[in-house]
Amino acid sequence: MAESTLHTAAVWVEIGFAGAAFLALLFVTAPYGRHQRSGWGPTIPSRLGWVLMESPSVVLFAAVYALGDHAWQAAPLVLGSMWLFHYIHRTLVFPFRLREKGKRIPLVIAGMAFVFNVLNVYVVARWISHFGEYGTSWLWDPRFLIGALVFAVGSGINHRADTTLIALRKPGETGYTIPRGWLFDRVTSPNYFGEIVEWFGYAIATWSLAGLAFAVFTAANIGPRAFANRRWYRETFPDYPADRKALIPFVW
Ligand SMILES: NC(=O)c1ccc[n+]([C@@H]2O[C@H](COP(=O)([O-])OP(=O)(O)OC[C@H]3O[C@@H](n4cnc5c(N)ncnc54)[C@H](OP(=O)(O)O)[C@@H]3O)[C@@H](O)[C@H]2O)c1
Repeated sequence: MAESTLHTAAVWVEIGFAGAAFLALLFVTAPYGRHQRSGWGPTIPSRLGWVLMESPSVVLFAAVYALGDHAWQAAPLVLGSMWLFHYIHRTLVFPFRLREKGKRIPLVIAGMAFVFNVLNVYVVARWISHFGEYGTSWLWDPRFLIGALVFAVGSGINHRADTTLIALRKPGETGYTIPRGWLFDRVTSPNYFGEIVEWFGYAIATWSLAGLAFAVFTAANIGPRAFANRRWYRETFPDYPADRKALIPFVW
């Protein structure tokens, strides 16, 4: 079988995973963070979990990317750098910013995320440095420029929202309070909103089914969690603002 056929199959498997994850997550909320509960087997410290489960998105990504025929061309390098900009932070910086004293994550959740990330890295890295065709002129194509702008806006929202949430706790605290101000007055989970915008921006910038597969997976994965988070806040805080949307400002 030609590798291009295998790659196309991998893209469709990822889209299939997105559908399956969305259906499953409508009924079962992944048991980490505020939704942590017993009955999910052995657990590991959550900081370690974040580093391990996201590590393929840095290490394996760099390796698969470097093996591509177009790895040292300008446009693939820019697209690869955008990816690594996000994932070096998510894997090596974000976990160490968390105020997560004593928090744990089930091994099965970290393991599933790890396996998904291996597939996703193959889908995206192999596309941008090998199967995709991006000449230098792609860098001033409107699809790249618009996609990169959307990516940057989404990334900024995601980063600011995560930073705000992390700062709700003083060092050593583990409890929860109601976040207020900025996009938090509009939606429960602006960090998820930003992340979804970011990866749809990447899908536009790469103009590829590979990029779209990951954007759709991200929405299918954390979209339902935003609604679970809002349900949790409403049940936990009687004064939780009733008009706050879950994920998309003014809409949903
Ligand atoms: N691409 C994907 O498919 C995907 C999947 C999952 C996550 N992500 C991204 O990974 C990042 C983290 O995700 P997450 O699900 O852990 O986000 P989260 O539940 O919003 O939590 C982010 C951090 O803030 C803390 N926190 C949240 N709400 C708080 C509150 N009301 N009071 C005090 N502390 C609060 C959390 O503590 P606790 O952990 O103790 O609750 C955690 O340390 C996000 O940027 C998300 O977009 C991406």
